[in-house]
Amino acid sequence: MEKYSHLKIQDEDENGLPPHLKRNKIVALLKKEFDFENSHLRFTPEKGSGLLSKCFSYNAPNQAKDLGIYPFFREIEETEDSKVVINGRKIITVSTNNYLGLTKDPRVIAAGQEALEKFGAGCTGSRFLNGTLSLHNKLEKELSSFLNREDSIVMSTGFQANQGTISCLLGRKDIAFSDRENHASIYEGCAISPGRTVRYRHNDMDHLEYYLKKYSDVDGKLIITDSIFSMSGDIANLPEIVKLAKDYNATVLVDEAHGLGVLGDQGKGVTNYYNLEKEIDIYVGTFSKSLGSIGGFVSGKSKVTEFIRHKASAFIFTAALPPASVAGVTKALDIMIHEPERLNTLHENTSYVKKGFFNMGFQVNNNPVPIVPIKIGDEALTLLMNQLLFDDGVFAGVAVSPVVPPHEAMIRTSFTSSHNHEDLDQILASFSKFGKKLGIISQ
Ligand SMILES: Cc1ncc(COP(=O)(O)O)c(C=O)c1O
Repeated sequence: MEKYSHLKIQDEDENGLPPHLKRNKIVALLKKEFDFENSHLRFTPEKGSGLLSKCFSYNAPNQAKDLGIYPFFREIEETEDSKVVINGRKIITVSTNNYLGLTKDPRVIAAGQEALEKFGAGCTGSRFLNGTLSLHNKLEKELSSFLNREDSIVMSTGFQANQGTISCLLGRKDIAFSDRENHASIYEGCAISPGRTVRYRHNDMDHLEYYLKKYSDVDGKLIITDSIFSMSGDIANLPEIVKLAKDYNATVLVDEAHGLGVLGDQGKGVTNYYNLEKEIDIYVGTFSKSLGSIGGFVSGKSKVTEFIRHKASAFIFTAALPPASVAGVTKALDIMIHEPERLNTLHENTSYVKKGFFNMGFQVNNNPVPIVPIKIGDEALTLLMNQLLFDDGVFAGVAVSPVVPPHEAMIRTSFTSSHNHEDLDQILASFSKFGKKLGIISQ
């Protein structure tokens, strides 16, 4: 239901207002209906008395639902390459991390089915005790060989790989230097460790150096960065990070969640793209993006992985990655290595779509990363734009506070090797139509 249509936004098309005035007018209309300043969709509910009062006074999602612009938890009924079926309608998705289109590859599915039949639905226990299958060890060997690392540990999610690794390495007297745009799993790993964390401004190497200098007398220093930042699609300045790490005797951990399968030779990640594999001490990755499944891993020197294997709570105190997922990932890795055309198509699609957005007047960078945030700013306007796109057949993700700072809300689009030019043209046309309608870009 297009409930938001009562806002009469259609009329704005005709009145010839300059884009920024049109945009302000629409934002004012939306804000009359929904108190975005004080009712962030995800957090910051009103305070009251009693533990659960915050839950009972948290009305923001319902307000957004009433207005017809609630963007979360959409129920997907079917999936097919670049399309999903929602509410019985087949639409294009740009809300996916299935960068190489491997999730539904018949070979991946067959490998998963075979493992499911052989080992059953799950491991019913921790890798530590009863949950290590030959499948896990095989995948660990293959990852290590692919990434040129001594050893790897397969964990149950990428989140746990970061959280478990960081929290067990960062001791009481140590300090982590973490980019402010790093993933939540890195924040959590730092937060639950006994060590201290400082957060340097996003990709700001002067700020990182300022902290490294300030804490130069601390013996155990860990610099942590995403290789590709999941919201902005920025690439970390690894060459400079490595140089600083050498200068200040720090260890480097890189989260290659969005780098694996996206950049570097055969999709080895940003560490390979910059030819810095030897300089990066710890490589963390996930199977939930390019490898199309679920799970995560950490790779490094055997002495380091062996320590993590016996110390990381997020690895030891949780059930092992299930057989079908492990086997599916192993097959996906093999396909990724042997079918480089997937990576080429991904890059072609990325460059095509970025050029399209840029020509329309959206601010996008020209790096080869398939995460393309469309910055809108105002949360209300972002949700409305997202809903208009959805109704027009384009399923995108939104990032609002606290995922991004307030007033820096964005629509996060991401592209895969499965999108074809028809899809990409339809997506661009939809963004153009509603970008103009809402005064986000010029006519
Ligand atoms: C940068 C980054 N690191 C780690 C993760 C966690 O990975 P997973 O979803 O496999 O737990 C994500 C996923 O959103 C991510 O974007």
